[in-house]
Amino acid sequence: METLDLPRLRRDFPILAERVNGHPLVYLDSAATSQKPEVVIDAISTYYRSANANVHRGVHALGELATEVYEGARQSVADFINADPRGVVFVRNTTEGLNLVAQAYARPRLGPSDRIVATVMEHHANLVPWQQVRDQTGCRLEFISITDQGRLDEDSIGRLLQAPTRLLAITHVSNVLGTINPVRELVERAHREGIVVCVDGAQAVPHMTVDLAELGADFYAFSGHKMCGPTGIGVLYGRPELLEEMPPFLTGGSMISVVTLERTTWNEIPHKFEAGTPDIAGAAGLRAAVGYLAKTGLDLIRSHDQELTDYAAEALSEVPGLRQYGPPANERLGIISFNLDGIHPHDVGTILDREGVAVRAGHHCCQPLMRSLGVAATTRASFYLYNDKDEVDALVRGLGEVNRIFRA
Ligand SMILES: Cc1ncc(COP(=O)(O)O)c(C=O)c1O
Repeated sequence: METLDLPRLRRDFPILAERVNGHPLVYLDSAATSQKPEVVIDAISTYYRSANANVHRGVHALGELATEVYEGARQSVADFINADPRGVVFVRNTTEGLNLVAQAYARPRLGPSDRIVATVMEHHANLVPWQQVRDQTGCRLEFISITDQGRLDEDSIGRLLQAPTRLLAITHVSNVLGTINPVRELVERAHREGIVVCVDGAQAVPHMTVDLAELGADFYAFSGHKMCGPTGIGVLYGRPELLEEMPPFLTGGSMISVVTLERTTWNEIPHKFEAGTPDIAGAAGLRAAVGYLAKTGLDLIRSHDQELTDYAAEALSEVPGLRQYGPPANERLGIISFNLDGIHPHDVGTILDREGVAVRAGHHCCQPLMRSLGVAATTRASFYLYNDKDEVDALVRGLGEVNRIFRA
């Protein structure tokens, strides 16, 4: 079976050669943000060195070059997710993409007789915008619960995926549990009931092939920085027919067609949703990132991340007092949340950091999920294409150290 050439691949990521607190860096926090390969760093600096100008305006050569860089990035992203480029809106991140859907799609359409459905496992980015819409429109907001194993509860799906629900907001992969939700099946079920589906793809797009033509989601948001790209650029895919009907989210320059002192007409999609000067350098970096992921191979990345998750879940199950959350490891993607009995996750994270191991500790922007798990916080290790089994072993050794200190 073909696998990733890890020693070679790790050399693509300059930061992995750094030492932290006297130890080689073991970066197990890619769910928060991934590291960047040299090609992405180079694409950003090449853009600034040789193509920097504003887009869609200049009649001069550099302006045309910058526009090519920016629109070329849109086409590359569209190819990467198998979507119509007219549906690919560049935003700052997943959070902004979801707010765009909430304010420009849901808010003008919903009223007191309607319902939005989300799930208990949502990141605050796919929860708070819907609370806002509820408060603005008077619609209801209800939640699909989860089972003890961290899967969506079938009874509550059946009860909520019907009238008066108008919109389902759901994460593709949970950033705490790693659960991969059956988005394609849920989209089919929702569409049979005339329900529009908005997917938070922040943790899915980095790790697996996401084919929007196949998934059929109406809206799908993700962030460049979690998939080897730069911070400051993300994507909202929207079905072009829906984007056409929607009012703009932000207004001003670039998103207009004709402006008089009295009124304004809008530019074509997707430009209608890109007010002001966009993150052109970010688009250049994101294009390099999707090129890098595609060249490496999403299937290989997925099976690598899965293998590490399985290996880590097994190794962590041997650590005394450790409890993992979520479904069986083979249903999780690149993420393991756990607690050590009686030891606060922040203490776990701090001692691991002393050993050079970077993990995240806290509520992971999922406070309702923490409540449903009956904990205030967890420690989360997350893996990506550049991690190897030695790093998982370093995590396990670090946890041995935590136990030694706290249980001495
Ligand atoms: C599932 C999920 N949704 C949304 C977000 C928000 O991403 P961003 O901060 O890039 O907007 C994250 C980030 O951690 C996430 O994991």
